[in-house]
Amino acid sequence: MKKISILFFCLFLSSFFLSAQNTSVKNIESRVNELLAKMTLDEKIGQLNQVAGDISTGTEVSKDDLMSQIKAGNVGSVLSHTNFDNKIAIQRAAVKNSRLGIPVIFGFDVIHGYKTIFPIPLAQAASWDMGLIERIEHIAATEAAADGQNWTFAPMVDVSHDPRWGRTMEGAGEDPFLGSRVAAARVRGFQGDDLSKNNTVAACTKHYAAYGFTEGGRDYNSVDMSEQRLREMILPPFEAAAKAGSATFMNAFNTLNGVPASMNKHLLTDILRGEWGWKGMVVSDWNSFGETIVHGAAADDVDASAKCLTAGSDMDMAGGTFQRGLKKALDAGRVTQAQIDEAVRRVLRLKFQVGLFDDPFRYLDTKYRNATLEKPEFRLTAREAAAKSMVLLKNDGGLLPISPTGPFKRILLIGPYANSVGNKDYMSFWTLGLGIRDYDSTKVITPAMAIKPRLEEQGFQVTVKEICLDAACNEKDLSIAMTATREADLVIVCVGERGIDCGESRSVSDLNLKIAQEQLLKIASRGNKPTIMVLFNSRPLTFQWANDNIPAILVAWQPGFETGNALADVITGAVNPSGKLPVTFPRNLGQVPLYYNALNTGRPQEKFGTMWTSGYLDAPVTPAYPFGYGLSYTKFNYSDIRLNKSQMKMDETLEVSVTVTNAGAVAGEEVVQLYIRDLSADIARPVKELKGFEKIKLEPNESKTVTFKLTKEELAYWNNDLKRKADPGQFKVFVGGNSRDVKEAAFELK
Ligand code: NOJ
Repeated sequence: MKKISILFFCLFLSSFFLSAQNTSVKNIESRVNELLAKMTLDEKIGQLNQVAGDISTGTEVSKDDLMSQIKAGNVGSVLSHTNFDNKIAIQRAAVKNSRLGIPVIFGFDVIHGYKTIFPIPLAQAASWDMGLIERIEHIAATEAAADGQNWTFAPMVDVSHDPRWGRTMEGAGEDPFLGSRVAAARVRGFQGDDLSKNNTVAACTKHYAAYGFTEGGRDYNSVDMSEQRLREMILPPFEAAAKAGSATFMNAFNTLNGVPASMNKHLLTDILRGEWGWKGMVVSDWNSFGETIVHGAAADDVDASAKCLTAGSDMDMAGGTFQRGLKKALDAGRVTQAQIDEAVRRVLRLKFQVGLFDDPFRYLDTKYRNATLEKPEFRLTAREAAAKSMVLLKNDGGLLPISPTGPFKRILLIGPYANSVGNKDYMSFWTLGLGIRDYDSTKVITPAMAIKPRLEEQGFQVTVKEICLDAACNEKDLSIAMTATREADLVIVCVGERGIDCGESRSVSDLNLKIAQEQLLKIASRGNKPTIMVLFNSRPLTFQWANDNIPAILVAWQPGFETGNALADVITGAVNPSGKLPVTFPRNLGQVPLYYNALNTGRPQEKFGTMWTSGYLDAPVTPAYPFGYGLSYTKFNYSDIRLNKSQMKMDETLEVSVTVTNAGAVAGEEVVQLYIRDLSADIARPVKELKGFEKIKLEPNESKTVTFKLTKEELAYWNNDLKRKADPGQFKVFVGGNSRDVKEAAFELK
């Protein structure tokens, strides 16, 4: 009896909350419609207009006097505005001086932290730690919201197979499954459970879609791919972000099969709003409505406006195309009033959700701002994130961690990124470039700043040589290196890419480590001197000589404010590295695109040089380091795979278990990864596809059993009739610590 009444009480409570929720949604809808009814056509078009603030994050476009445009009701949103007091003035102008007092919504690229700078997104993905990523974005949102930003242009969820593309750094790598998990974690982190809270911002999932597949890795270039591949490789992270509630989406710059993404009805209306039932607002990328004309897919502003709006885009970022063309498009009968109204509704709805109508100044409280930005505890997460993102690629003879009881006493820290000029190279273009951020780079802890005192405290003698600045080494640098390395027992060489070279418009045609840096590595390691290479990078680089000759290689990426502390944690063993590559590292550029989840071909190459197989004469087809790869200071042993059945019916669940044992002397974390291969589908399927992972922590000698569940959902794929289904037949299942070194079992789907 008691149980029944508790049940009824719970039902009553949940229906109460559900109806309260519906009422607030209904409330928003009626307030939106009320407001819409009062708006003139110009005011409506004004809401669809986003203008650039005090920094420029794209090519220059015409910008009329911001304040007078706002007062005239011609601006719905301001992007990339940094000056806080000025934001207050802008909001005041919108609320007090425009006819209807509609607040503006401020958008900003919060890419790897707002004031406290975290590792670049690709590095964060290397942690495979979704809880951590969520916490990072929560901090980023807290700071951004405290500084008056309501909306971040993140997460970027573009899958890419081409490391030449500069924006590789902004995504989660090459895999749609990992990418989907990361996308959802980022959205949750930014948005929390209520967009009107002062520690959340609206997310903007970008760039919809296929921007990561630009030809030749050249930014803004064209993309051509089958619908089947689009659905398998590109769309899953977008769908995951939509399902996680991403409030907005952003168009991509590229064309997809000839159609610019901003006017791509198939992507925006059929898939995003139709199939996925997503209800949010779509913003263009910087002038991407206008660029439809440059693509040659629209004749002028009127044509571009009509095509973009009717395709399903809503707001015009920085281009002014709608301002010039939308009214004329309406007059010409190219768009309907109802279509304009729907786009405006989406913008207003967002502003209501963010709470701007209830209090337009809720995010513009100077006292709260000053008490919130860069709290010391945010730095702790930045340090944790940087250390957990690092990936140990090589550690011959257990050279790392450096221990006071080991054979080395005199340590030399050398190279362009040992103590980079102005502390700048540990972040990306998004925090450095084009005046994007006014942050103070002295807040970065460089490797030298942290490693020297830490190791000296432990009794080492540490020398730092700041040479080869700007990534180039001259004769003088090399002669300094000659002498300094002679006097050291162990050399740590910090090489890689400049921070400014990673991000938008930062594509490269060569992935090789700079020759001068390789020379430095050769000098350091001559006579087999123990040498550790620490790589600061935003994408997979190629360094074949180092792979063959340097005993220890650590990928640090661009780790952010806490670079030095995190690096010191890892090289001294205070933190046992647990990062795993979210992207394949090729041996050379000629192998690109090289990714683990490729098709088998009819003639797969098992052994380099085998005639009549799919390979190269001058290089193997295998990567330098595969997807999912990363070493630890301990060793994990995997048991054989146990399946709870060898045949599974369509509606059944297959359980895949392995026991992982820490067989080393220190505690460590391991990312246990599950892959499948469909051997007899209706179309060819990848040789491996990630379908599950779990990060576990094990003490020495400890074992844990990890059980993954597979249903027809994980076994399904998009076929060429564009149906998602699982085909009966044979499957392989693999479990391991990376995509190459795995245990294997087989089962049949009935
Ligand atoms: C262009 C970039 O492609 C996009 O990602 C960014 O959000 C906007 N510029 C605004 O800065």
